[in-house]
Amino acid sequence: SEKGLKDYYSDYFPIGVAVSPRALQGESGELILKQFNSMTPENVMKMGPIHPEENRYNWEYADQVADFAVEHNLKLRGHALCWHNQAGDWIFKDENGDQVSKEVLLQRLKDHITTVVQRYKGKIYAWDVVNEAISDKEDEFLRDSPWYQICGEDFIIKAFEYAHEADPDLKLFYNDYSAVHPIKRDKIYKLVKMIQDAGVPIHGVGIQGHFSIYEPTEQELRDAIEKYASLGVEVQITELDVSVYHKEHSRRDPLPKDEDDAFKPEQEQKQIEQYDMLFRVFRDYKDTLTGVTFWNISDRYSWLDNFPVRGRKNYPLLFNEELQPKKAYYKVIEFK
Ligand code: XIL
Repeated sequence: SEKGLKDYYSDYFPIGVAVSPRALQGESGELILKQFNSMTPENVMKMGPIHPEENRYNWEYADQVADFAVEHNLKLRGHALCWHNQAGDWIFKDENGDQVSKEVLLQRLKDHITTVVQRYKGKIYAWDVVNEAISDKEDEFLRDSPWYQICGEDFIIKAFEYAHEADPDLKLFYNDYSAVHPIKRDKIYKLVKMIQDAGVPIHGVGIQGHFSIYEPTEQELRDAIEKYASLGVEVQITELDVSVYHKEHSRRDPLPKDEDDAFKPEQEQKQIEQYDMLFRVFRDYKDTLTGVTFWNISDRYSWLDNFPVRGRKNYPLLFNEELQPKKAYYKVIEFK
């Protein structure tokens, strides 16, 4: 048919997809244009890739994504201004290889955010300003990253401040995984409140949405969306995929190398039901949810093929390896 996800969901929220510059070409480029009306660069706007040395920015790939979005009238989300991963080795170190002071690091953060945000002003409507700053340890609030070790919690508030100064029209997001898990959810709530109480603008919470066929439960998902909405901010699902494996199983007890990792009928059935539940809930919260973005286009390539188990194939998306809609796709558009 002529219609795509973006058309079925036009009364609800934009439907986005994570892309690499290469994916914009050929048949995957055509699939993007048919199905999606929003994009997020999967890697090329992260600090390391876009700012590999203190005095060198690499705009080439980021510009390719931004130009494509402008040319084809897709919304564009920026990802991510401040993260502990893919940050570039230089940022935390001085010329002798020693850790920099808080003053120096905050100045670098400000330079980075100001330069990158201003370059894409008018092209990017929302940025993930801070990504994954919260700890997964039950009794720890913020992640013990170099950002935190050097700056304490100030880097978070400062990042939002710098982004707002660089482009006051931007929507500013805090983005994290396991964001519907009750313990982490409450920490994210606390962090957003802290930013608000400091008088610094924050407009939304990004629930990454790296889900699986086993989690989350419908109730957990509803509770998290409602809890964030109670802060008066928008919510987006920023990195949706539905792994066909148990999350808790995957890292501790990886599959032996020769185990069959084909897409099983039981996995397919559970995935259809999970996607059905997720989008039913998303539709219910259309006044709060301002975007749903898939993390990758099709099962031909997903970052989950290598994470957390290197080389194990996963099938987390709505399009198969031939870029054809899966049964879960038809379930997600069935309401129309
Ligand atoms: C992932 C990319 O998909 C991979 O290509 C890369 O090797 C590592 O990062 N949370 C995030 C994303 O915020 O930036 C991550 O993307 C996935 C988890």
